[in-house]
Amino acid sequence: MEKKWWKESVVYQIYPRSFMDSNGDGVGDLRGIISKLDYLKTLGVDVVWLCPVYESPNDDNGYDISNYQGIMDEFGTMKDWEDLLAGLHERGMKLIMDLVVNHSSDEHAWFVESRKSKDNPYRDYYIWRPGKDGKEPNDWGSFFSGSAWKYDEGTDEYFLHLFSTKQPDLNWENPQVRREVYDMMTWWLDKGIDGFRMDVINLISKTPGLPDSSDGSGGGEHYINGPRVHEFLQEMNREVLSKYDIMTVGEAVDVSPEDAILFAGGDRGELNMVFQFEWMGIDSGPTGKWEVTPWKLTQFKEMVSKWQTKLNGKAWNSIYLNNHDQPRLLSRFGNDGKYHNESAKMLATLLHTLQGTPYIYQGEEIGMTNVRFEKIEEYKDIETLNMYKDYLSKGHDVADIMESIYAKGRDNARTPMQWNAEPQAGFTTGTPWLAVNPNYKEINAEKALGDPDSVFYYYKKLIELRKKHDIIVYGDYTLLNETDEQIFAYTRKWGDEQLLVILNFYENPAQFKLEPAINFQSKELLIGNYEASPDEDFHELSLRPYEARVYKLKGVNA
Ligand code: NOJ
Repeated sequence: MEKKWWKESVVYQIYPRSFMDSNGDGVGDLRGIISKLDYLKTLGVDVVWLCPVYESPNDDNGYDISNYQGIMDEFGTMKDWEDLLAGLHERGMKLIMDLVVNHSSDEHAWFVESRKSKDNPYRDYYIWRPGKDGKEPNDWGSFFSGSAWKYDEGTDEYFLHLFSTKQPDLNWENPQVRREVYDMMTWWLDKGIDGFRMDVINLISKTPGLPDSSDGSGGGEHYINGPRVHEFLQEMNREVLSKYDIMTVGEAVDVSPEDAILFAGGDRGELNMVFQFEWMGIDSGPTGKWEVTPWKLTQFKEMVSKWQTKLNGKAWNSIYLNNHDQPRLLSRFGNDGKYHNESAKMLATLLHTLQGTPYIYQGEEIGMTNVRFEKIEEYKDIETLNMYKDYLSKGHDVADIMESIYAKGRDNARTPMQWNAEPQAGFTTGTPWLAVNPNYKEINAEKALGDPDSVFYYYKKLIELRKKHDIIVYGDYTLLNETDEQIFAYTRKWGDEQLLVILNFYENPAQFKLEPAINFQSKELLIGNYEASPDEDFHELSLRPYEARVYKLKGVNA
């Protein structure tokens, strides 16, 4: 396995709107982030992934970009951004930027031109089609509810938007579009950034002719991993990425490990890794994410193990348990009540001890949780609001809709970062754009920094361990105790070393017995979330609620 800095790194994701507000307007900004760089340095992360900070009318909080080379006024200026980059580099951290090029904003100059007339030079930058029998050109659905087409009166045609009506899809078939994108990427790389996170990058190629879906399921088969996607990414790699020592991670909707190897295989000349969604779908039902469905630990273990073993030696995993689009990991996979700290640390142990690059989402390191706003008016996320309207019009019960939002809505992750117990959690002196989670007096960074036993310091320790032990980064993964519904246990192997990870996923105590047994001479407890006595025996280990332990085994006799 080839050693790389981006495999050994831990990434911290910042959602700028909700991180830190420096000027009291209620919206997080770049100066706010700069004021917290020492906090990130204390945590020990290597790379910051900054969600979009470009000019945007904010229909989808910056994922609708109207100028790829300008900074959003609310966030600050290009000088602020340059200071942020310098501040990170001075502290030995790197910066990766969000690249959102499946679509732009409808307020981007290209689209403003494109919609003017059918013979405008920018017409072909986007995907325009005449209607079919007075209706949309095909049956594709938008990820944000309804049709993926919007009718534009000016030229009596429809344009494609896989996301909101203000996010028209760029036409990657047009070589000029690709040239513009590559030039823009080069411009940012020449400013000194260290890589890109690529938004829904596996949607950029659409089946020619844009046919209807074969089964009325919305058209994904014609744009997920579309026919030219690998050709486009290889071209992007040749033209841009290969010229720099950077890291790239592509958000890839609905991909299998086999697909991931095509995007991120070491010999493919495309990306370094992808974000896959399989684990994130574990609690979704047949109608999708809003249908909250119970799941079993054995299912989860099977998914994790599949990605760990299939990618091993072929492509690199990204490991994440939440982000700005997902509910908080603690509320979803752990216990955000009585065992808040224990379960936060248990999940952190999982995040940091799988093979792959871990991604921490802001607030995760202090154990931030989901939120339950009483009224729909308090929610701001376009996906949530569109779904609410759509489900209401289809006759769903309001209480049921709200329960789905409480479990899955994206605003769970977007409430402001909880810095201290002051009003508005110290995030702003003004009125925050989205309300603060009422639990900020108990859960906040200041409190965590003052408590040596906090979730924060547990993350810090895990990050430090990664730097000390190559096996945590590179070791091969093997699942143990496969059918156990309560304990997730696995080994990592690297040369003649072995790591043993044991996680109790629930609040009930559990008895653990190694299956299959491993013979070894001695063991060292690297980290755990409870006090543990050194001479305990793996044949009858009693695990407390959400207990996590990581041992390094010596003298293993295979
Ligand atoms: C994925 C992003 O993470 C999400 O926040 C956004 O809404 C969509 N892509 C569209 O850009």
